[in-house]
Amino acid sequence: MNQPLVLGIESSCDETGVGIVRGHTLLADAVASSMEQHAPFGGVVPEIASRAHLEAIVPMIESACSQASVKLADVDAIAVTAGPGLAGALMVGVGAAKALALALGKPIYGVNHLAGHVAVDQLEHGALPEPCLALLVSGGHSNLLQVNDITGDIVSLGNTIDDAAGEAYDKVARLLGLPYPGGPHIDREAASGSSVAIDFPRGLTSRKDLDRHRFDFSFSGLKTAVARWVEARHRAGEPVPVADVCASFQEAVVDVLTRKAIDAALTHGIHDLVISGGVAANSRLRALAEERATAAGVRLRVPRRNLCTDNGAMIAALGSEVVARGREPSALDFPADSSQPVGTVVV
Ligand code: KG4
Ligand code: ZN
Repeated sequence: MNQPLVLGIESSCDETGVGIVRGHTLLADAVASSMEQHAPFGGVVPEIASRAHLEAIVPMIESACSQASVKLADVDAIAVTAGPGLAGALMVGVGAAKALALALGKPIYGVNHLAGHVAVDQLEHGALPEPCLALLVSGGHSNLLQVNDITGDIVSLGNTIDDAAGEAYDKVARLLGLPYPGGPHIDREAASGSSVAIDFPRGLTSRKDLDRHRFDFSFSGLKTAVARWVEARHRAGEPVPVADVCASFQEAVVDVLTRKAIDAALTHGIHDLVISGGVAANSRLRALAEERATAAGVRLRVPRRNLCTDNGAMIAALGSEVVARGREPSALDFPADSSQPVGTVVV
């Protein structure tokens, strides 16, 4: 029998994504980004993001249907990001998804954005091993999650206590005069710099911090250390070696991310690690994670770069799994929840 056809809608931040999935097969992944409109402000402006979603949502639904060569009437279920994310942005996707579900008479599933980042890996590497450990790193999140059941049992092991990993990349890029979003620029600059040129601090890795925050992250001290180092060069009238600063900063970030992820996997007896979110596109993170996972006997899965950043396919992938495991659909009056806890996979 054919597996159900699931359409997924994502609008939690600045990407309007619509994906279509059957089982673990990706049929369409349409994404519009309002990034360029936010760039002059150095960060996502919620009101601009909401307006852009409103303009892009119907064209993206049409584009996804045409990519997949399906009609809306063929869709068996709708999944949509209910949270976490920007409230106004979420409401555009949730409103569109509810309208579709009502008009088509199909079930709707309001799902968790973070679980979607993990579930998307099924489209590339097949069924998710459970339990697995997930490291989610993006502009908005830095989480270590124990995934026992991707559709209903996800436990948070650690989180950032200040900035998200991607946020740190964006802030450091800004103080080096690199464009927003900074991650890809730092990644590129770092390639020609030395990662041991400057010894930047590794947040929450001292013995004392590990007692309380073993699997938590902190990047704001690192950002301040980079700012101080750059200011000192300016004061001394010396040029800033941008490539070396980028490489040394990047090493401090990915060293802590991979060290804590492997430690969490080994401590909890988990043998599979999934890394996702925008920062998972980082070339040094991918390389160091591979090296350390192999050394620790942990299997590593990292989705291809365009599936790591926000997209609709990840929500369709999660929706497909939720349907396959027979979970109840959401009631049509479910809210958008900007701070939806990771334990709530389906509303
Ligand atoms: O997942 P995403 O597209 O959106 C959310 O924040 O949910 O992640 C965007 C973040 C930005 O902070 C961006 O600078 C970072 O991911 N990023 C990178 C790279 N590509 C994107 N960070 C480091 N290296 C990259 N190659
Ligand atoms: Zn995300």
